[in-house]
Amino acid sequence: MIVPPSGVVVLVVLVTTLALLVSGSMGERQRSLRLPNATYPLFYQLHISTDIHKGQLLFSGNATIDVAIRQSTNEIVLHAKNLSDIEITVRRLTDEGSEIVDDLTHTLHPTAAFLIIHATENYMAFEEGQQYRLEILYTAIMASRPAGLYYMDYMDEETNRTVYVAATQCEPTYGRLIFPCYDEPGFKSNFSIKITHGSSHSAISNMPVKEVLSHGDLKTTSFYTTPPISTYLVAFVISDFESISETYRGITQSIYTSPTSKEKGQVALKNAVRTVAALEDYFGISYPLPKLDHVALKKNYGAAMENWGLITYKDVNLLKNVSSDTHKRKLDTITQNHEIAHQWFGNLVSPEWWTYTWMNEGFATYFSYVITDLINPDDKMMDMFINHEAESAYSYNSFFDVRPLSHYVEGEQDIMGVFDIISYKRGACVIKMFHHAFRQKPFVRGISHFLEKYRYSVANELNLFDALQSELQEDEYFSQQPWSSRIREIMLSWTHSEWLPIVMVTRNYENNTITFSQRSVHMKDELWWIPINFATTKSPNFADTQVDMFMPPQPRYTVALEDLKIQVSGKDWIIVNKQHTGFYLVRYDTDNLMAIARQLQTNHSVIHPINRLGLFRDLGPLIEHNEIEQVEVVFEMLKYLEFEEDVLIWNQVQDSIECLIRNLHGTSSQSLFNEFVRRLIGPTFRRVYVENGVNLPEDGMSHGILEIACSVDLPECLEYTRRLAKEYIIDKIYLRVEADYHAVIDSVLCMGVRYLSDQDFQRVIDMMQEIDRGSVYYDDIIYALRCTQSHRHLLYYLEGLMGENSTHMVLSELEDLMYLLYIYKSNLASRPIIWQYIERNYKFLCRAPNFLEHFKQLAGFVPRHQRLQFERLRQTIADHMMQEGLNTNQTLIAADSPLVGKKMKITENFQDKFEQQIHKWLLNELPQASGRSDALLSASLSAANGSSRPQGVLKEATRVLRSALRIVDMYR
Ligand SMILES: *[C@@H]1O[C@H](CO)[C@@H](O)[C@H](O)[C@H]1NC(C)=O
Ligand SMILES: *[C@@H]1O[C@H](CO)[C@@H](O)[C@H](O)[C@H]1NC(C)=O
Ligand SMILES: *[C@@H]1O[C@H](CO)[C@@H](O)[C@H](O)[C@H]1NC(C)=O
Repeated sequence: MIVPPSGVVVLVVLVTTLALLVSGSMGERQRSLRLPNATYPLFYQLHISTDIHKGQLLFSGNATIDVAIRQSTNEIVLHAKNLSDIEITVRRLTDEGSEIVDDLTHTLHPTAAFLIIHATENYMAFEEGQQYRLEILYTAIMASRPAGLYYMDYMDEETNRTVYVAATQCEPTYGRLIFPCYDEPGFKSNFSIKITHGSSHSAISNMPVKEVLSHGDLKTTSFYTTPPISTYLVAFVISDFESISETYRGITQSIYTSPTSKEKGQVALKNAVRTVAALEDYFGISYPLPKLDHVALKKNYGAAMENWGLITYKDVNLLKNVSSDTHKRKLDTITQNHEIAHQWFGNLVSPEWWTYTWMNEGFATYFSYVITDLINPDDKMMDMFINHEAESAYSYNSFFDVRPLSHYVEGEQDIMGVFDIISYKRGACVIKMFHHAFRQKPFVRGISHFLEKYRYSVANELNLFDALQSELQEDEYFSQQPWSSRIREIMLSWTHSEWLPIVMVTRNYENNTITFSQRSVHMKDELWWIPINFATTKSPNFADTQVDMFMPPQPRYTVALEDLKIQVSGKDWIIVNKQHTGFYLVRYDTDNLMAIARQLQTNHSVIHPINRLGLFRDLGPLIEHNEIEQVEVVFEMLKYLEFEEDVLIWNQVQDSIECLIRNLHGTSSQSLFNEFVRRLIGPTFRRVYVENGVNLPEDGMSHGILEIACSVDLPECLEYTRRLAKEYIIDKIYLRVEADYHAVIDSVLCMGVRYLSDQDFQRVIDMMQEIDRGSVYYDDIIYALRCTQSHRHLLYYLEGLMGENSTHMVLSELEDLMYLLYIYKSNLASRPIIWQYIERNYKFLCRAPNFLEHFKQLAGFVPRHQRLQFERLRQTIADHMMQEGLNTNQTLIAADSPLVGKKMKITENFQDKFEQQIHKWLLNELPQASGRSDALLSASLSAANGSSRPQGVLKEATRVLRSALRIVDMYR
């Protein structure tokens, strides 16, 4: 399943806590949320009858389930949720036939969503070794949201009539909304499915159609029995859809769409045929069903769902117009191949429990890239993996919380919660690490054996690790390694740790040893078995990514170079973690880093591009957290970037450069540093943007380059964005951007309005009055203007948006101050102006209900040298509020609060520690630049003190602001 990208996870957790509190006090007795093991299903005959073709949402079901008794019990417990009119008949199956068991009844357990069948008198009604047939009749209502059996409608373009369509989403716990079942992945069973529906419609399901019987204006479609599958993979769709098909190696694949969209499925059909064959070959295991359908639905939970034999997609992720751009095509291919990979990882072998969700999602994520890369080698899919999956798995900021990959959960909401970045992206990174460390062939053979051994069944992580171990012990090289019998330990250190390690590599240049030390990025006491390999000056071979040694799970570990069989002299470099296939960060001692910097400067192409990227990924947090030991080495590393053409590396380095820009803002090094960065980025900017002609680059990956270039005032960039912004704002020529619409448009406009002349600024303001205030165009422009570097324009902008004299009601809006804070954080030039603005408007601002909170946040950014000014302003505001009796139950942040200036500490420490060294380094590096000031910047600074008043412009800015804030939210 590909889940919708959103902040849902946070919500889920809140809801869960609540649910747990409630469930503690309810229910007839304390029950586990897990099904008991005393009984298990053998066979389901499921018959669903629906009139959805008439828009009728009520459906009825007959779930006839054969059940075996493992252990005598007084009850049979199944899941059922929101099912009504339940009638149950239980028969004991005997050699001669069956006999009805009477005196049974049932109870519904609402919190656990259990349907419990038990005797009216409490006794062991179900005997060990016996089999029973439960015939359960019920009704239920289709939902509009994609969970369980849900519906959607289309306008048929030929007849102008509304057509209703129904589809299913069972993962992870929605099967119980459609039929009573053992709704846990561990209870696999065969399913024989039958659907009665209107004769204008047809039905498809996991298996091919066996027969269709017509009766009146209804039809009953029966399907062949499935192999054993988990309930979360059961699927059917009832629609008037048509299909295109292709059969290869005996497997028929079809794309189902509403009749007029059929042709748009061609690209996906071709890809699906190639991908299934490629996966069969890669793992040596045939796709086990006779067919695989792909259905384009108007509504789907997330982008797609991997139901065995019947993958459902949100239509925009499956169907292609001729004009679809390359980036989107690649993303959609990955989505489809992710679901196809699940046919093996998850469908053929399913997780014993949701603890192992990563064994589904991590493998599907990783191998979707591997296979797509194999099929389309020109598409650079493994680069996309780094950008699209690995970056967020590594990032310090993508988690509000961390947890181990294997993580036990129970409640429905908690189960939803493990479909997160950790299962998908971290899971994929860890799998990638061992795919390389254990060499691809043995690793893949191990995985194939695992799939073969557990096919049609379920498995846990140990089953997987043991399969890998037996394979590695067959391998001539690996079997000789001391760790080859410890694969469980090795793997468990990765699946049961909460975070990822930082490996510090310290060379001892006297006695020729290396000391490795490891710690978790979040300082917890966690240790790993870490696969290490090396490239060196004398052996700069980055191709072989197999493990050279494992660092055992101990804090420090020293090895002699001799034992590692690597040759390095004092001046040589060592790089650990070739192609960054290992999922950890690396830090080096300064001498080694300097040797790497020298290599980058002489010939950077000797170091593999992914390791160049990795060097900056490793360096980034050090810069951001001010943990650098010697700053020169950072600058020596950056220096070679003048020759760096790889867009991915520029993307990686963007955060670090922006951090340095922030740290050097307002110091004597500011303009020198800008000059330095201009020199670095100029050639790449010209290549990607200027030589590319009129259009923005297609990949949507390079707007980081544009942001860096313009924020250091590279003239070509300012010119380029100014032209595009002008075309957009004045001539209303829409920017042709392919991917990631908002982020790119916003970068271009934001950078394009940095230095508007007074005349142009006035022209834009005048125009704003004429244009439709409900339009995206209006929102885009008003939001872009926050980026101006002119103090005067900014003040005018702020007062127009939220000043006292702007005639709209803004005080009731909580967003104003939030937006102010956002501008403060994102536009360094705005900082003095925002203080000035508060000074002028505090009487009006402090009436806002959230003023105190935001004032406190802003206070965090007060630099040392403005402390006195801040205290004066604070006192003025405090006096005023006292006089007016405002916010009396809370107080303004105290003048001596430790929070004041706290956010500036890192920057100030950085400046104390490094500013002089940096200044010296830059002067030495850019002798000709000394004395040259940033003409543009100073021009706009000197114009800062004007005090023009807004003349009723930007009247409805509140509403616009709100939509702007929606965009802000998207960027969080
Ligand atoms: C049922 O058996 C499985 C596998 O042995 C076990 O993991 C699970 O905890 C058991 N469930 C209960 C409720 O005992
Ligand atoms: C329910 O389905 C079972 C199995 O197909 C069938 O034998 C039984 O007659 C059905 N019950 C009803 C009421 O249709
Ligand atoms: C469908 O509706 C559209 C717009 O209302 C109309 O132009 C068209 O003629 C209608 N088609 C049919 C077949 O009724």
